[in-house]
Amino acid sequence: MASAAGDDWWKRGVIYQIYPRSFQDSDGDGIGDLRGIESRLQHLAELGVDAIWISPIFPSPMADFGYDISDYCGIDPMFGTLEDFDRLLAAAHDRGLRLLLDFVPSHTSDRHPWFEESRASRQSARRDWYVWRDPAPGGGPPNNWLSEFGGPAWSFDEATGQYYLHIYLPQQPALNWRNPDVRSAMLDVLRFWFERGVDGFRVDAAEHLAPDEHLRDNYSNPDWQPHMGPARSMFRTHTAHQPEGHRVVREMRRVADAYPDRVLIGEAYGTIEEVVSYYGPELGGFHLPFNFALIDALWDAAHIAALVDDYEAALPEGAWPNWVLGNHDRARIASRVGPAQARIAAMLLLTLRGTPTIYQGDELGLENADVPPEAVQDPWELNVPGQGLGRDPVRTPMPWDASPGAGFTAGRPWLPISTQTNVAVQAQEPASMLTLHRRLLTLRRAEPALSVGSYRTISAQDDVFVYERRHADRRLVVMLNFSSELRHVRPSGRLVLSTNVDRSEFDGTLLPDEGLVLDES
Ligand code: NOJ
Ligand code: MG
Repeated sequence: MASAAGDDWWKRGVIYQIYPRSFQDSDGDGIGDLRGIESRLQHLAELGVDAIWISPIFPSPMADFGYDISDYCGIDPMFGTLEDFDRLLAAAHDRGLRLLLDFVPSHTSDRHPWFEESRASRQSARRDWYVWRDPAPGGGPPNNWLSEFGGPAWSFDEATGQYYLHIYLPQQPALNWRNPDVRSAMLDVLRFWFERGVDGFRVDAAEHLAPDEHLRDNYSNPDWQPHMGPARSMFRTHTAHQPEGHRVVREMRRVADAYPDRVLIGEAYGTIEEVVSYYGPELGGFHLPFNFALIDALWDAAHIAALVDDYEAALPEGAWPNWVLGNHDRARIASRVGPAQARIAAMLLLTLRGTPTIYQGDELGLENADVPPEAVQDPWELNVPGQGLGRDPVRTPMPWDASPGAGFTAGRPWLPISTQTNVAVQAQEPASMLTLHRRLLTLRRAEPALSVGSYRTISAQDDVFVYERRHADRRLVVMLNFSSELRHVRPSGRLVLSTNVDRSEFDGTLLPDEGLVLDES
């Protein structure tokens, strides 16, 4: 099982995140579905990724678009059937693509039968499956914890006179992982999908597993600013990254380890130290705790170089790194750094040491879409409007071609489709963002130095970040110009690939916003 660096598929591989509502609709209801994904596997094969992670597809009232699950072992009819799922899995495997699902362990839907039973009475056999507490002595919620989506993390249940905990929406009650029956029921969910052949999971909101059992109050954050979202007005001292949550992760890992070649990727936002703690003692936690450092990073060569060094240094012995530029929750990379620098970001993501995850649409350089107020769908935006917290702009459907439904749907799309660009156009353009991604992925596959090779920062001066990737006698040097001006560097090595894809000669000049991979073997 444990093997030399590079033998595990998830170390060499590149992961692609599919947001299923917005990838491809097959039945004209304006919402993407499993048959749609199956029909677009060719795009992923041509792109050259190794695995897909699909955001939740399970039965759900969709209060948080699938992150509120009412049955962990089924498929929401909106997305298809279990049979469609099995077909998709087989079709992906036929193409050599692994398939990861999204496991949402910290909360269920309020319409999950477990919660319905739990809330039915204080004596219910499943009462303790969730976190119920009496009101505070003077009335009101049991403590000061806040919901990530605005308002208190507690909702009052009139019928039984107690509050229940929800770190997210009231429709997402927190499961009580301290209850052994919850643990065994939820671990069985992993087994159910592993038995069907699923290659792994992205584990949602892992930092929120098992908040403090004594319900101690959190402290307020004096440096809070509104753009951080309402929940960040408090430090998460007693709600996030709790020791019991880490124990739960280790149990998940033991389940995964009973099957060959499976991978667990954890979502846990925090400091570098908090993130790497999820590798667990003796690497018995997540194989890959998502590293979101690039998502919030100041876009500056020296800063990014320092961040890479800090992350590499923080990794526990033997831990495998990973990098992420975006996902369905955060602003698009091309909007954060601009379209020209998004090409630098793509080269960075695909040449750093560690498993990259590409968010759907970033291979086209999509920017945040305009979603007019009347089209808003995201509950976060609806709860806290006008603060730029809403996630709809990064969730709009994939533009496949220039037809009216953009090749995404024959019906009315659930969110407006942006007409900035599309796959068909970019597939024809020799210098498009899509072509650049294909070239980078081809190169990464061909060059073990880029996947499993060692990493070393060479310099970060004058807006140019230079690093080395090395494997056996192969030495590749990456130079990234973070400025929109010419930069003169050392004219050495043979040009392997430029972000200006058609460039073939290197004379020591880095063009504005240009990144290069050079062979200095
Ligand atoms: C993180 C998910 O990525 C996000 O979309 C969701 O709203 C929360 N977890 C709650 O499940
Ligand atoms: Mg559909």
